[in-house]
Amino acid sequence: MAASSWHQGWDITDEEREVYRKRSQASSRAKAQAIRGEGRTPIHPINVPQLNPDDLMPQLASNGWRSLSLFSGGGGLDLGFDRAGFTHVASYDILPESGITLRNVRPEWTVFGGEQGDVTQVDWRDYRGLVDIIHGGPPCQPFSVAGRQQGKEDSRDMFPEFIRAVLEIHLPTDKVKPHVQLDLFSLLDPSETLQPCMGVREALGLPDIGFDALSPTIRSSLTGPRHTTSVLSSVSAQKIWEKLQIWPNGVALNREQAHLFVADNGHFRLSVPDCAILQCFPQSWSFDGAVYKALGQIGNAVPPPMAYRVAVSIASCVGRFLELKESDQFVFSTIILNRHFKNYRG
Ligand SMILES: C[S@@+](CC[C@H](N)C(=O)[O-])C[C@H]1O[C@@H](n2cnc3c(N)ncnc32)[C@H](O)[C@@H]1O
Repeated sequence: MAASSWHQGWDITDEEREVYRKRSQASSRAKAQAIRGEGRTPIHPINVPQLNPDDLMPQLASNGWRSLSLFSGGGGLDLGFDRAGFTHVASYDILPESGITLRNVRPEWTVFGGEQGDVTQVDWRDYRGLVDIIHGGPPCQPFSVAGRQQGKEDSRDMFPEFIRAVLEIHLPTDKVKPHVQLDLFSLLDPSETLQPCMGVREALGLPDIGFDALSPTIRSSLTGPRHTTSVLSSVSAQKIWEKLQIWPNGVALNREQAHLFVADNGHFRLSVPDCAILQCFPQSWSFDGAVYKALGQIGNAVPPPMAYRVAVSIASCVGRFLELKESDQFVFSTIILNRHFKNYRG
């Protein structure tokens, strides 16, 4: 299995590696057996989710603004901006599966994936005059408290690349920059009270067990020390999954396989479409690639309804800015750090 360029492997001994290898082989055998119908009798019926993320982001009419997406991943930001009425210009991501995901769900979009999606190789001046807003979620590993926090010493630090794109396409002049930063960004603060959220069990349409909770962070399987099919992010997350009676490891490709592959402790096994629902992607948004690659795109994503709220807010700011405008043209850019707003019912 080829490692991604931004993947940081674990420094483990040969013996430890052997333990993981054996565990993973045993799990693969049990899974194959279950899918052949030779596993334990299924306990949980195939679930029908209650949460429809599309309801959280009603499609808005075109607002006339054209958006360019960098580090598009599985498309959380792209989808939020799309539903908020922005016109999609292009998406860029170095992961080939991200390109395929976006082309599958939005065949009409211009999408650059894999080598062609590597933002470090793009001359952004070609987009001058064609873009009103640039959005992107550069990889957070160089900064995340869950990582080694090497900042600019980390080769995955893509913030300078994001800024290069902004500068090459266009930059607000020095005269208006303070206004953009001080007056307009402050308008992006949420002004309304957030509505109650759906718990995981309710969102996934699972029976009431007298306990429900927001989803723990769905770990991106691409960025940790090992590529796995687990979405478990921490010890505290494990406690919550246990109370939810949900098994966060060995996520199945689809609901049918999750139903057949009974977890040892009898808890409900997650599937890729269930994890997508928890990250607030609608059912129609399918992810390309093996389970760990799909989970990587999902766990890395900005939840689309959150992106949508930001996009709606930005559209209103840009509108207000242009009413006051002092320059003929500028590009509004936003870097959105992935925040873990789960099951947001906005
Ligand atoms: C945090 S994820 C982005 C998630 C995305 N904004 C969303 O909402 O779904 C960061 C992405 O940066 C991509 N990436 C890393 N280095 C890149 C590069 N040099 N060029 C383009 N994309 C890159 C990774 O493949 C990953 O999908």
